[in-house]
Amino acid sequence: MTEAPPPDAPELAGRRVLLGLTGGIACYKAAELCRLLVKAGAQVRVAMTEAACRFITPLTMQALSGQPVFVSQWDARPNNHMAHIELGREAELLLVAPASADFIAQIAQGRAGELLALLCLARPDGVPLLLAPAMNRQMWQHPATQRNVRQCAADGAQVLGVASGAQACGEIGDGRMLEPEDLLHAVTAALAPKSLAGLRVLISAGPTFEALDPVRGITNLSSGKMGFAIARAAFEAGAQVQLVAGPVSLPTPYGVQRSDVTSALDMHAAVMERAQEADIFISTAAVADWRPAQKAAQKIKKDGSGATPALQFVENPDILAAVARSPRAAEGKLYCVGFAAESENLLDNAAAKRQRKGVPLLAANIGAATFGRDDNALLLVDEHGAQQLPHASKRRLAQLLIAEIARRLPGAASA
Ligand code: CTP
Repeated sequence: MTEAPPPDAPELAGRRVLLGLTGGIACYKAAELCRLLVKAGAQVRVAMTEAACRFITPLTMQALSGQPVFVSQWDARPNNHMAHIELGREAELLLVAPASADFIAQIAQGRAGELLALLCLARPDGVPLLLAPAMNRQMWQHPATQRNVRQCAADGAQVLGVASGAQACGEIGDGRMLEPEDLLHAVTAALAPKSLAGLRVLISAGPTFEALDPVRGITNLSSGKMGFAIARAAFEAGAQVQLVAGPVSLPTPYGVQRSDVTSALDMHAAVMERAQEADIFISTAAVADWRPAQKAAQKIKKDGSGATPALQFVENPDILAAVARSPRAAEGKLYCVGFAAESENLLDNAAAKRQRKGVPLLAANIGAATFGRDDNALLLVDEHGAQQLPHASKRRLAQLLIAEIARRLPGAASA
């Protein structure tokens, strides 16, 4: 598996997105968002309010989207001279980013005073409306804004964020627009098929770190990339996702709830607790099999004699096997998926490991050195035998794996 896999198809190839901008300094980030959407293959139409045009020019958005930009409801360019109907008809999704306090108030009240608000109100059934608020923290916290946001959500809009941090006005707090990358992920999620709608998915990922003393320990080279990619794909498939991560330096996927842990014992405790409220557990973590029997309270020092420390180890709990033995799993309410890293006899070892762990599905990494890479290939082993997933990016493999899990769930239509 040394050659790179074929490149992924663009995530949003041919998907029709209407991007709305309202007045706010975060408009400069909307330019980057537009670029990311186009790069992901989307056909992006941009509609701007008059206020947005004071922060960024329609020409900028036209250059980035490669399409004419619309501001006025009286614009005669669309086919039937009805911009508010025609643009909405074309779109599969509306994303307003940034959405100002005033614009959110208009949407909450069902007002349609300018083109973008008209488009939101006149959008066809089934076309999602995503609002990415951006405003000063006091405006965000004002009860009127909070009431309007709740009303928009109750009317079916998805409110994205907000993020917290330094604001253009010099204050610090809630009200920042989500980063363009997160908004792109929100769009991808909103347009993805919902094979795990309403299910709760728990994922363990990354290595564990077993301390020897306050400054040293034993770990492994797991990057966590596969588990994080699976978390993202599960969220996109409509699941509520809890990710228990060992020490890794990866950003939390959009929409995913993350808990960071260090040792196998920490991971065991975090996973066992969350498994009581999960429908699916996917164990991708490279859990250390052993930990030092004792952690020295102070840094272990050389004594000058040349003697090396005699390390004693004890075995860590097998987290996956413990979850698979839990009452929820035994009652068929928790579907467990294991991973396996094998250096030889892949199929036999994977099949034996599946039995030993007591899980219905095991995904074995094909090729030993997958740690840290962005690609992988998996052999899926279940009660019926083995099936190979192609050599692909971990992003693509994660999507395929989620589809395979959804297909196998008890009660799934195609199971
Ligand atoms: N696993 C776990 N807890 C452990 C060890 C492993 O939850 N203490 C999980 C891993 O997350 C993975 C599966 O068990 O889903 C198999 O892990 P792997 O390291 O391949 O196997 P081991 O159980 O460690 O067995 P061996 O090292 O003998 O191959």
